[in-house]
Amino acid sequence: MSSFKACIFDLDGVITDTAHYHYLAWQRLASSVGVVFDQADNDQLKGVGRMESLEYILAKSDRVFSPAEKAVLAHQKNEDYKNLIREISPANILPGIREAFDWLKAERWKIGLASASRNAPQVIRSLGIADVFDYTADAGAIPNGKPAPDIFLDVARAFGLKGDECIGVEDAAAGVAAIKAAGMTAIGIGDASVLREADIILPQTDFLLENGLKLLAG
Ligand code: G6P
Ligand code: MG
Repeated sequence: MSSFKACIFDLDGVITDTAHYHYLAWQRLASSVGVVFDQADNDQLKGVGRMESLEYILAKSDRVFSPAEKAVLAHQKNEDYKNLIREISPANILPGIREAFDWLKAERWKIGLASASRNAPQVIRSLGIADVFDYTADAGAIPNGKPAPDIFLDVARAFGLKGDECIGVEDAAAGVAAIKAAGMTAIGIGDASVLREADIILPQTDFLLENGLKLLAG
């Protein structure tokens, strides 16, 4: 019998490719304030909350921005992002994710969502998978963002489970760090050089069930 009882998913870049839309919107925001924003910057920001991400970008500018200006910029990025995700549908679920959900349900593991995005509830509704999750963390109610373990621990607590009974799935370095800090086992999806800390690293979601979950379940 497996010692794992729950799988806790990140959303953007794991369940669907919205990580790319966040990147596009941040890139446009950065360019509007004269800051260059590339793939390496984006890797730093994956999994990081909206205001912290904005601060990272504005720190590259030689201008100082007032709190009011920052609020406008954050709103602008979010409106841009919301436009980009308007057409999202169940067809945007990444390969292998549905199979992973079906297997987890059949094995009677809990399925959790630990996304830092305030848009997560809307995205999972658009994908038609809101009812898959036994618990969805409320990003707005979590004190410390990834790489702090808080959001993953919140989901484990809701399930009445200890960290070592949970697997977390992430595409972000900050997310993998959060899973490990929560005492959980981490599956990283994406670039091995970015996700070094993960227990298992898979290049894409197709491999999640056979080479990730089933392997760990033993
Ligand atoms: C996730 C994404 C980040 C995004 C953050 C906040 O962690 O990986 O790219 O910036 O959520 O998202 P939000 O939709 O609340 O601006
Ligand atoms: Mg992500």
